[in-house]
Amino acid sequence: MAQKPKLFVTRRLPDDVEARIRRDYDALHNEDDAAYGPEDLVRLSMATKCEGILTCGTEKWTADVISRLPGHVKILATLSVGYDHIDVEAAGRKGLIVTNTPDVLTAATADISMLCLLGAGRRAQSSEKILREGKWGRWEPMAMLGVDVTGKKLGIYGMGRIGQAVAQRARGFEMEIHYCNRNRLPPEREQGAIHHATPEDMLPHCQFLSINSPGGADTYHFLNAGRIALLPDGAVVANTARGTVIDDNALIPALQSGKIGAAGLDVFEGEPDFDKRYLALDNVFLLPHVGSATIETRNAMGFRTLDNLDAWFAGRKPGDRVV
Ligand code: DGY
Repeated sequence: MAQKPKLFVTRRLPDDVEARIRRDYDALHNEDDAAYGPEDLVRLSMATKCEGILTCGTEKWTADVISRLPGHVKILATLSVGYDHIDVEAAGRKGLIVTNTPDVLTAATADISMLCLLGAGRRAQSSEKILREGKWGRWEPMAMLGVDVTGKKLGIYGMGRIGQAVAQRARGFEMEIHYCNRNRLPPEREQGAIHHATPEDMLPHCQFLSINSPGGADTYHFLNAGRIALLPDGAVVANTARGTVIDDNALIPALQSGKIGAAGLDVFEGEPDFDKRYLALDNVFLLPHVGSATIETRNAMGFRTLDNLDAWFAGRKPGDRVV
């Protein structure tokens, strides 16, 4: 019987995904779901003599780590659509193939974008806190007032697959869709959404703003003090993309002053060590990076990651090769 390919799996994964790995690979699993730092990644890559690594966004594949990987490592398959945790230039220089998992998490993540827009706009968390703290007295004409979502103008920064899925959902709330994207979409995908060539052009229209761009250097601190100033007073901001797209030192004072009415945030710069000043604010709706956190979606992401690995080990081109 042919030997199974050697794989190093950096995180615990859903049972069905792990079962497929056990069936098809000679794998080192992370049974305790230990947090692997740079030295562990290099050490375990060497110890396993693996050709493939199945990783997640939690492991940082810096240029230094990649340069120290043994030559037998040929493919790094990440169970994520984002790959800002991987230095793809360093991977390219080393001839290391990198794959990701587009498409399969689009719907789940767009759902969480809507949850963040609604949760922030309607003050879901601060209202629920009143129940949890036993402070609900009687119905209040003037308390827990949010703003209408229905019929408002929504700007989408990053109109890729997830941005388009957010637009589709927001149409159900009769929102007027604006978007800013490097390339204008064809009319059948735009579906009446209004394209803006620059964020500066779009932001003054955004009563609601949904951030759905990739992370990385190009979008680092996109939402800074200058751009916040361009938003209408009381705008609601949602971010399910990457925490690095927002400058916390600009957003937090804007939330404190009311310039930004509310924010729904699923991702944070430096997460899980996020800026704790958010916790003192009543006008935020906070989630711990759960955009793709459904069992169906995580299974699909796992299977897509394995499809890419299977293809490479069978001598075919992986479908989701990014480098
Ligand atoms: C992704 O797939 O990029 C999600 O953010 C999970 O890491």
